[in-house]
Amino acid sequence: MWAIAHPDNQTKRCYDMYNAIDYLVRAAIESGLTYGVFDKEWMFKRPESAATDGALYWDQTDLIATSEQLLEQIDCPLVSIYFLEIFPLFATMHEHFHTIDKRDPKSWEPTGPGQIIMRTETSTRADYEGMGLMKLMAHWEIKDAAAKGFRGINMETLHLAVDHVWMYPHKTKSDAN
Ligand SMILES: CC(C)(COP(=O)(O)OP(=O)(O)OC[C@H]1O[C@@H](n2cnc3c(N)ncnc32)[C@H](O)[C@@H]1OP(=O)(O)O)[C@@H](O)C(=O)NCCC(=O)NCCS
Repeated sequence: MWAIAHPDNQTKRCYDMYNAIDYLVRAAIESGLTYGVFDKEWMFKRPESAATDGALYWDQTDLIATSEQLLEQIDCPLVSIYFLEIFPLFATMHEHFHTIDKRDPKSWEPTGPGQIIMRTETSTRADYEGMGLMKLMAHWEIKDAAAKGFRGINMETLHLAVDHVWMYPHKTKSDAN
C-alpha cells in the first residue's frame, strides 16, 4: 500500500521513518506492552552483531538501496514486532478511521490508564512472512491484556492479514470466509 501511495524516494522515506520513530519505539518498549518474536537459531552475519545481540548496517547516504539490500543489512534475530509508520497519508487515514467509526466513544475510550491498549502497527521481516508470527503475537497479546486486567485493545489496521486476524481472532482464514 505504501509503495503505491508514496512511490517516490522510498529508500529515503525508510531511513526518515527509522530516525523519526526512535523515541516512539523507546516509549513503546518502556511501556512493557511491546512484544517481539526472536529467531533462536539466527546465525549472525558479522561477529560484531553477535556482541550486541544484533545490529543494523544501513548506510543512510545510500539512497538507491533496494528493499532486499536493506533487509540483508539487518543482522538481528528479532523477526516480528509492532511497528509505527510515518508517511504523509498516515495522519489522513487515521483521521478517516475516526470519522467512519460510528460507535459512541464513551463505549470504548479509556477514562484512565490501564484500561485500553492503544495498539500501533505490527510488522514481520519480509523473509519471515506467512509463518503465522503476527497471528501468534496477536493471540498472545489478547490473552496477556486480559490477564493484566485491560478491558480492550484498540487496533487500527492497514493490512488485510492484520484485519483478518483481529476481526476473527479465533478463526482460520478458511473458517472466516
Ligand atoms: C502484515 C504483516 C504484519 C503480516 O505478518 P505475518 O507474520 O506474515 O502474518 P501471519 O503469517 O501471522 O498472518 C497469517 C494470517 O493472515 C492471513 N492473511 C495473509 N494474507 C492475507 C490477506 N491478504 N487477506 C486476508 N488474510 C490474509 C493468513 O491466511 C493467516 O490467517 P489464518 O491462519 O487464519 O489463515 C506483514 O506482512 C508485514 O509486516 N507487512 C508490512 C508492514 C505492514 O503492512 N504492517 C501492518 C500494518 S497494520
